[in-house]
Amino acid sequence: MDRAPGLSVRLKLTLSYAGFLMFAGALLIAVVWVFLLRYVPDDVFVTPAPRRPRDPFVPHQFIPNRSDLWRAFAPKATAALAFLLVFGLAGGWILAGRMLTPLTRITQATRMATNGSLSHRIRLPGRRDEFRELADAFDTMLARLEAHVAEQQRFAANASHELRTPLAISQTLLDVARNDPTQDHAVLVDRLHTVNARAIELTEALLLLSRADQRSFTREHVDLSLIAEEATETLLPLAEKRGLTIETSGDITPTIGSHTLLLQMTMNLVHNAIVHNLPEEGTVWITTGVLSKTVVLTVENTGEKLSPQLVSTLAEPFQRGTKRIHTDHAGIGLGLAIVKSITQAHDGTLTLIPRPAGGLRITVHLPAA
Ligand SMILES: Nc1ncnc2c1ncn2[C@@H]1O[C@H](COP(=O)(O)OP(=O)(O)OP(=O)(O)O)[C@@H](O)[C@H]1O
Ligand SMILES: [Mg+2]
Repeated sequence: MDRAPGLSVRLKLTLSYAGFLMFAGALLIAVVWVFLLRYVPDDVFVTPAPRRPRDPFVPHQFIPNRSDLWRAFAPKATAALAFLLVFGLAGGWILAGRMLTPLTRITQATRMATNGSLSHRIRLPGRRDEFRELADAFDTMLARLEAHVAEQQRFAANASHELRTPLAISQTLLDVARNDPTQDHAVLVDRLHTVNARAIELTEALLLLSRADQRSFTREHVDLSLIAEEATETLLPLAEKRGLTIETSGDITPTIGSHTLLLQMTMNLVHNAIVHNLPEEGTVWITTGVLSKTVVLTVENTGEKLSPQLVSTLAEPFQRGTKRIHTDHAGIGLGLAIVKSITQAHDGTLTLIPRPAGGLRITVHLPAA
C-alpha cells in the first residue's frame, strides 16, 4: 500500500516524552509560584525598624513585593523549563530508540520474508513482553509458512514426476511401434490403454485432493455407519478374492458432510486395509460409534509390522510403504493423503497407529451432527 510520508514513531514518542516533561515542569513551577505569593505582599511595604532609645540612626527594613519576586523568579523558571525541554528531547530520543529496536528487527525479518527468505527467524532475546510476543508469533508463522511451502513444492514435484511416468511410458511404446512396423498393434493398444487408465486415475485423485482442500462441497446429514456398509459391500469381492474376512459393527453415527467425499474416504481406508493386508487369512475390522460430541470410524487390519516412524509419514502425498513385492497393487500413494484432506475439510482428525501384532489401526473422528 502506498502511504503519504508521516512523522516517525520515534519522533512522535520523543515529542510526547518532552511535552509531558514540560507540562509537569510548568505545573511544578506554577505551584511554587502560588506558594511564594502567599508570603509576599502586593505593594511596596516598608516598616520602620523598632526604635532603640540611644540609637540616632533608624534603618528601614526592606520587604520585596510581587514584581521584585517575579523579576527574580522568571529567569530561573525559564532556564529550568529550557533545561527540561532539552533533557526531554534528548532523553526521549534515546529512550524511544531503545524501545523501538525490536521493531526494527521485526520489520527487517518481514522484508526478508517478503523477498522470499522464509528460513530467517527474528529470535528476539530477553524476557517476555509485547514485542517479544509479536516476534515469537512471527517466528511461528514463518516456520509454518516455510513448512507449508516446502510441502507444496514437494507435492508439485512428486505430482509432476508421477504424471510424467505414464506419459514417458506411452512415448516409449509409440517409439518402439514406429521403429518396428511388424509389431502386433493389439498388444500396443492394450498397453497404451493400461498406461492411460493409470494416468486418468492419478489425475482424478489429484483433482479429488484439491476439491477436498478447497472445502467447496455441499454439506448434508449423513450416517457414517451406512457409508461404511456401502464401502464394504463394494469392496467385498476384492476381499474375497484375497481370502480376507471383513467384520463390521457399529451404531448409527450421524454427522454432517459430503456423502460423496465421506464415501471416498471410507473406500480408501477399506481398500488400503484389504490390499495392504497379509497375503492370506487376513482380517479387516470396521467399527463406527458415537462419543459425546464426535462420531468415530475405525478401520483396523492385520498385516506386516510397521514402525511408528514409517506410519507417521504415510498420510503424506505420494508416500508408499516399502514392500511393493508382496502385493500386486501398485498404488499411487495418494489414498491416505485424500483421507486426511477429506477429514480436515470436515473439521475432523485422522489417527494412524501401528498394531503391535502387525497391520494398522486408523481412526477418523468427525463432529457429531
Ligand atoms: N491399512 C493399512 N495397512 C498397512 N499399511 C497401509 C495401510 N494403509 C496404508 N498403508 C501403507 O501406507 C502407504 C500409503 O497409503 P496410500 O493409500 O496413501 O497409498 P497407496 O495405497 O500405496 O496408493 P493409492 O493412492 O492407490 O491408495 C501404502 O503404500 C501402504 O504401505
Ligand atoms: Mg491406498
